[in-house]
Amino acid sequence: MLQDIQFAAYQGSNHLVQKASYALDRNLARPNKISVLITDACAARCTMCDIWKLQAHNELTIDEWRVTLDRLREWLGPFWLVISGGEPFQVRYMFDFLAHCRDIGIKTKMSSNGMFLTERNCDRVLEVGPDFLSLSIDTWRKDVHDHHRGVPLFDKCVDAIHNLRARDESIVLGVASIIMDETYPDMPETARWALDDLGVDRVLFQPLYPTFATDEGIDPQWFERNPHWPHDADACSDALETLRGMKAEGRAIWNPDEHLVAMQYYFRDPASHPRPDECMVRYNTMNIGPRGDVNFCYTVDTSVGNVRTVHPRDMWRSHLAKQVRDEMKDCKAPCLLNCYRGHSLRDQVAMFRFFLERQGA
Ligand SMILES: C[S@@+](CC[C@H](N)C(=O)[O-])C[C@H]1O[C@@H](n2cnc3c(N)ncnc32)[C@H](O)[C@@H]1O
Ligand code: SF4
Ligand code: SF4
Repeated sequence: MLQDIQFAAYQGSNHLVQKASYALDRNLARPNKISVLITDACAARCTMCDIWKLQAHNELTIDEWRVTLDRLREWLGPFWLVISGGEPFQVRYMFDFLAHCRDIGIKTKMSSNGMFLTERNCDRVLEVGPDFLSLSIDTWRKDVHDHHRGVPLFDKCVDAIHNLRARDESIVLGVASIIMDETYPDMPETARWALDDLGVDRVLFQPLYPTFATDEGIDPQWFERNPHWPHDADACSDALETLRGMKAEGRAIWNPDEHLVAMQYYFRDPASHPRPDECMVRYNTMNIGPRGDVNFCYTVDTSVGNVRTVHPRDMWRSHLAKQVRDEMKDCKAPCLLNCYRGHSLRDQVAMFRFFLERQGA
């Protein structure tokens, strides 16, 4: 318990130092959002994401990851690590990676398409994590989800959630859905179904972005040509309004209310609505790619170093990192992806309490 209180106190004070860094435009804090894109490999065939077309090559080995995780842990104390990809469970050593995180006191949150969550792998999840598993299910309608994913994944996700939940009440499970033309009318029912019928703890809605792993977003009018862009902004706004109502009634919709509001504007015209909150990524975030390159944000994708050759702490404090921070200062991108958003201190405390109650932190 004492350790948990120390962790919360450290996170709280670091959050305030991050705010001061932003206000003074000087790097005084340490990051508290560390995320890894562990692989480019993915066997799905999604229509809104082209990562599956990438060739995984020269990716970090488990030994290289162990060194990096140890360095981060030593530098930052206990922290939450967000794991995404590609498909993380497609990585041969994924469970060794998770076991190492658990051994050294790093909490893990993972996004997965569910493809490899066989019964055997669910057993491993219950042994070593992730502590928070978010399954990507874009709508409660199986045929629509499977059509977008290009392969049948819906039943795999549902079976895995039932399997995990039936055997461990303490595992934290989520569903993440992309808001697209074909899915936005379902949003309220998708949230209700995921929370009540599947029994997950959290539902998160992600605005459609330019197709991942393409340069579609270079064109500010990309959305006019993207087949998944919701073409009826009023109807999309109404569906988001219904979600706001559900959230106000206490349903576990993970997006902050201001994020749901910002998305109502975003779907009217993403190009003319820069993110409404301050962009803190250069003072709170480190993203590590499959080959070890580190950036602060996936859009301004300028590397500040590689974990194969530089200690993350030295990168964070480097002259190059300062240059990249300067470059990012005036960025006005319409930036509403959940991974770019900061969490208020209140949200961080709520999340900490939730995990403490559920898992003893
Ligand atoms: C790139 S995936 C990697 C993890 C895993 N393969 C999965 O699908 O959950 C991370 C998240 O991005 C979402 N995503 C994919 N393409 C997107 C797009 N064009 N706009 C917004 N979110 C997208 C996925 O649904 C998933 O929740
Ligand atoms: S969204 Fe996930 S499952 Fe789909 S192609 Fe991208 S990485 Fe693969
Ligand atoms: S795209 Fe721009 S606004 Fe968005 S996280 Fe990156 S630097 Fe910040």
